[in-house]
Amino acid sequence: LTADSLYILNNFARQYFSRNLFENEEGQAIGLSYLKERGFREEIIERFQLGYCLATRDAFAQTALAAQYSLENLQKSGLVVVRDDKPLDNYRGRIIFPVHNQTGKVMGFGARIIGKNDKAPKYINTPENEVYIKSRILYGTYFARQAIDKYDECLLVEGYTDVISLHQAGIENVVASGGTSLTMDQLRLIKKYTNNLTIIYDGDAAGVKAALRGLDMALEEGLNVKLVLIPDKEDPDSYVHKVGAASFREFIDKNKKDFILFQLEVQLKDTGGDANKKAAVVNQVAETIAKINKLEDFTKQQDYIKRCAEMLRIEESGLVALVNKFIRE
Ligand code: GTP
Ligand code: MN
Ligand code: MN
Ligand code: MN
Ligand code: MN
Repeated sequence: LTADSLYILNNFARQYFSRNLFENEEGQAIGLSYLKERGFREEIIERFQLGYCLATRDAFAQTALAAQYSLENLQKSGLVVVRDDKPLDNYRGRIIFPVHNQTGKVMGFGARIIGKNDKAPKYINTPENEVYIKSRILYGTYFARQAIDKYDECLLVEGYTDVISLHQAGIENVVASGGTSLTMDQLRLIKKYTNNLTIIYDGDAAGVKAALRGLDMALEEGLNVKLVLIPDKEDPDSYVHKVGAASFREFIDKNKKDFILFQLEVQLKDTGGDANKKAAVVNQVAETIAKINKLEDFTKQQDYIKRCAEMLRIEESGLVALVNKFIRE
């Protein structure tokens, strides 16, 4: 089966890149020192099985081919591309982040450039294949499962380094969406472990937008959604390094907002007292409340109607009627 052979190849690559990082001179000088300068300690680098791909043209490809891995699977895995009829390592000179499935098997990789280069993408990710199915990937699930269970809450961040830095700070119930908006499959995966989702995104406009896009789907899945926005220009990784683990936890606890109420707050600010705009906001919030999984959460729905009507300064009965209209649609 192709899936099995891809897992075996990925595991081989994972071990190879990890040896490069810790035992190869270039890997130590460039890769390991980069990670250490960013504040990652060796035990966390080992736990997440990070690695380094040498800058050489085809060091990995040649090793893998000599070990009898097929060029076809090497290409399919995204580890190797063919250029000028010759194999070329795709992640040359990059830090390797293995992406594990729920049981710890390596489905693919994220590969981060070291330093700045405007011509190359910051991250290269594994292309879609039999085992790397983008819409189903939540980075860190394997390492977060137990803690999600223990705290009955899943924290969701954007990137690989956010997950790893939070683990290092002792916060282990955390997974990453990979910077794209959430998919239904990802939300169902979270729902298998907990009903409580806390989204921790950058406070910049893109972060807020990405978070809001996931909201309606999350509500339909019956998740309770909270939101924490990290201060401007920071992300969870940079912020936890800046303020330390204890202050970071305190920040999260103090700034956790209910997602529906947050959305309403943002939209109300935008109306600036305009009656038409306010009517549109009322409609929007009714539509959102209508999406709350009704069978599971009737009282939750009632509670939101009450609180939103107060914030909007409208009659509760009017909002009830509107919500019911959307439920029937
Ligand atoms: P660092 O800069 O290493 O701290 O990474 P980051 O996670 O802070 O990166 P950023 O906030 O810019 O992006 C969030 C996530 O989006 C990353 O972890 C990646 O999964 C993904 N991403 C970022 N840049 C790229 C890119 O150039 N290509 C692809 N395919 N994904 C990217
Ligand atoms: Mn951002
Ligand atoms: Mn980031
Ligand atoms: Mn960013
Ligand atoms: Mn970052």
